[in-house]
Amino acid sequence: MLSMLGVMMAIIVVTGVTNALHPPSNAETIDPTTLHLGGEFAESNLGTAREPDGSVTVRMIAEQYSFVPECAQVPANTSVKFRLTSPDVIHGFLLPATNVNTMVVPGFVAEVRTSFDRPGVYAMPCNEFCSYGHHGMWARVRVVPKNQFPDLSADERTNCAKQ
Ligand code: CUA
Repeated sequence: MLSMLGVMMAIIVVTGVTNALHPPSNAETIDPTTLHLGGEFAESNLGTAREPDGSVTVRMIAEQYSFVPECAQVPANTSVKFRLTSPDVIHGFLLPATNVNTMVVPGFVAEVRTSFDRPGVYAMPCNEFCSYGHHGMWARVRVVPKNQFPDLSADERTNCAKQ
């Protein structure tokens, strides 16, 4: 019995460490009723922003029943930090085949860091049931080659939904 428990614990610890799987540790609060009025999650700040150290930060709002913006463009082989929050109910933020999987809880900022090895489009379904429109709540993350990213206009960087 004890050795089985030991083996299972070891599997959890080893896969957690080697695949960088860990529970989100960011406990940052925000007033969900005033997101649109100003501050970090005002409409003009949503999308992908370049940081001075070369990394990028993607800010999104998850609301019934869409993500804003609906598509985020990020460079490959670059540290990407996602910051999401919700003005209404709990949503989920998942990028299949990556380490990105977190709940988006109203009143809190969900923060996840990752990087993408190769260009491509990642589907981004809401993975927490958030009422009758849940199944239609999708967004995309478009990963472009690192050298092409600086050539994009600010609008393209911020939102690729129209492409
Ligand atoms: Cu939002 Cu399910």
